[in-house]
Amino acid sequence: MLADGQIAALPTETVYGLGADATNKNAVDKIFKAKGRPDFNPLIVHVSDIQMARKIAEFNPTAELLAQTYWPGPLTFILPLNINAGIAPNVTAGLKTIGVRMPASDVTRNIIKHLGQPVAAPSANASGRLSPTKPEHVVASLGDKIDVIVTGGKSAVGLESTIIDLTGDQPALLRAGFVTGDAIERLIGQSVQDNTKQKTEDAPTAPGQLLKHYAPKTKLRLNAVDIEKGEALLAFGSVKFMGIKGGGHVRDLPISHYMNLSETGDLAEGASNLFSMLHALDQIKAPSIAVMNIPDTGIGRAINDRLTRAAESA
Ligand code: TXA
Ligand code: MG
Repeated sequence: MLADGQIAALPTETVYGLGADATNKNAVDKIFKAKGRPDFNPLIVHVSDIQMARKIAEFNPTAELLAQTYWPGPLTFILPLNINAGIAPNVTAGLKTIGVRMPASDVTRNIIKHLGQPVAAPSANASGRLSPTKPEHVVASLGDKIDVIVTGGKSAVGLESTIIDLTGDQPALLRAGFVTGDAIERLIGQSVQDNTKQKTEDAPTAPGQLLKHYAPKTKLRLNAVDIEKGEALLAFGSVKFMGIKGGGHVRDLPISHYMNLSETGDLAEGASNLFSMLHALDQIKAPSIAVMNIPDTGIGRAINDRLTRAAESA
């Protein structure tokens, strides 16, 4: 189907992607249409192996080292585009740079390998909404707009890939994810600029930072220490001390209104549950969702990044 210029939802370890042959402009255009995505927001291109990546982007020693360490995995590089590689211009939104990633899913890497072309794939959700970590999230968001979903269970990482811009003198983190800026600094022995807080509606160099992103429809109340009447609770760690205002305890909440990202306070587990639990709590249409504090260390930073954006846009 991809070879015929159609689009398909594909599993990855971060979130489900909506894929098209990156060398086919019409096919790539179908992604933008299905998502309702603004055409100035470029797509990440997925490769089956490093040779394919080196053909479409100009690798440097930092990229080689990072690829050797983290690929296949949840890390995307922004590198100079090789303009002779045949990448459709709408993939990069006309930029001279390209985002490249080798996903961990064997199924998806095999599909790319058999296609023999890189696959452009943004997250498989309507533009501005929560990313999908399960096939049913894709159905709910785009089911009537796409013909096929390749299922691969729940995405293990659960947050979109870390994006690191390697086109400047100093590497810059554009999007926080499972691979942290600190880990990258330690590996490459160079400091990494943190551009993850830059928010803009249309800046072309760091469009990963579009203001309205990762939005559930329900309002979020972050760093909650108690629960308002009628609210749902997204907990993290122990809920021993979480009470309902005016009387009551978490255990008095309807079962549909309580979810815990990780009862043991494990940040990686919390990350993998974040979007699926937000999707589920969003369904119950409570007036708001109280979210307990998440430690801002390691992958907790990526969790807080997504929560802050979701809270700002709902
Ligand atoms: O984990 C992921 O990265 C998932 C899976 C499917 O691989 N994909 C994903 O794609 O999150 P998307 O389109 O939802 O987010 C890609 C981000 C966008 O915010 C886009 O602006 C940014 O990457 N991006 C793509 N190419 C870029 C470039 N050349 N320069 C700067 N940012 C770029
Ligand atoms: Mg997305």
